Amino acid sequence: MSDIFEIESRYTCGVYAKRHVTIVRGEGAVLWDDQGREYIDCVGGQGTANLGHANAAVAAAIAAQAQKLISCPEIFPNDQRAALMERLTQLTGMPRVFLCNSGTEAVEAAIKFARVATKRIEIVAAMRGFHGRTFGALSATWNKAYREPFEPLVPGYSHIPYNNLEALSKVVTDKTAAVILEVVQGEGGVYPGSAEYLRGAQQLCRERGALLIVDEVQTGFGRTGKLFAIQHHGLQPDLLCLAKSIAGGLPMGATLIGEKVGVLPGHIHGSTFGGNPLVCAASLAALGEMERLDLPARAAENGAYFKERLQDAARNSPLIRQVRGLGLLVGVELKKKSAPYIQALGQRGVMALSAGMNVIRFLPPLVITREQLDRVTHTLTQVLTEPVLETVAE
Ligand SMILES: Cc1ncc(COP(=O)(O)O)c(C=O)c1O
Repeated sequence: MSDIFEIESRYTCGVYAKRHVTIVRGEGAVLWDDQGREYIDCVGGQGTANLGHANAAVAAAIAAQAQKLISCPEIFPNDQRAALMERLTQLTGMPRVFLCNSGTEAVEAAIKFARVATKRIEIVAAMRGFHGRTFGALSATWNKAYREPFEPLVPGYSHIPYNNLEALSKVVTDKTAAVILEVVQGEGGVYPGSAEYLRGAQQLCRERGALLIVDEVQTGFGRTGKLFAIQHHGLQPDLLCLAKSIAGGLPMGATLIGEKVGVLPGHIHGSTFGGNPLVCAASLAALGEMERLDLPARAAENGAYFKERLQDAARNSPLIRQVRGLGLLVGVELKKKSAPYIQALGQRGVMALSAGMNVIRFLPPLVITREQLDRVTHTLTQVLTEPVLETVAE
């Protein structure tokens, strides 16, 4: 075990805080380490594993396509890509799509398209928002720890408080190219946006000629209990950013493009790997499986169940400040730093994420069962009552 950890630690660039567990296998919502120890996975590949690990249909589609054609840049049409483009536009109700390889690229494209389409420069983003780590997306991201080492960032960005329509109204002007928002702020602490705020933001953009970019990189593909979180509030963004679980775990991103963006000039953007047949085949299989397994409905039902169990736990724990989330994107805000508790959960067989300093974020595969969710709640309750941990956390 330690060999692998040591090798990675020796050669890694160092930007990741590595956990001392070597993961070698997964199935559904379960992971195994190289010692054969089992974990309930509430990291879910940081949102890329909505379908669960080792989905047979996705694995078969990848294997079949790999033997047929992997590389085919978008200058040539391709059967898998054409089918996926049609599917994504049908599912979102948006007419066109740009295919890329990650969430940050999907955001980067949306920002560039918004600037070109509106001939305006300014981008309004939200405090606590997270949109990625390339320069355009990083400039929209709020967390200082990610931004400051790379300043000066791209000019023309401002950040206003989330869920505050009045603040938004003050900054959206005839110079605003786009407002970019998450429907639920994930990385920033699991804060759901209110229907009034999100619809109001859309209305404001319409009135002032700005475009609305919705970043569904984390909330997309069933996570919040609908295929896309915009469906909770009847939102129709002008640009919609997707990634993470779009291709069953393979790296892929997509920017869906609405009517108001108009025709984009040739050559202004592109991606060598974007929309390659391998990821398109994986994505088609993943979308088919999400439908077959009724994943959005499962996320809605099991997410509500999980939140109830966690609320019960919160009533008996002086350490929990709040339980919040939508579907199976769930955050438990503690009155102390969350990191030691996340570590303790891992030691007891539950992998979870942080979101900000005080929040434990649960992002399990959407195939997770109620019994597994019960085990997560039970383990959390145990961990929160460990006296030794409270000392560590202080
Ligand atoms: C809302 C949101 N946008 C963008 C990104 C960036 O995605 P990626 O890491 O694939 O570049 C993330 C990643 O966590 C995200 O949660």
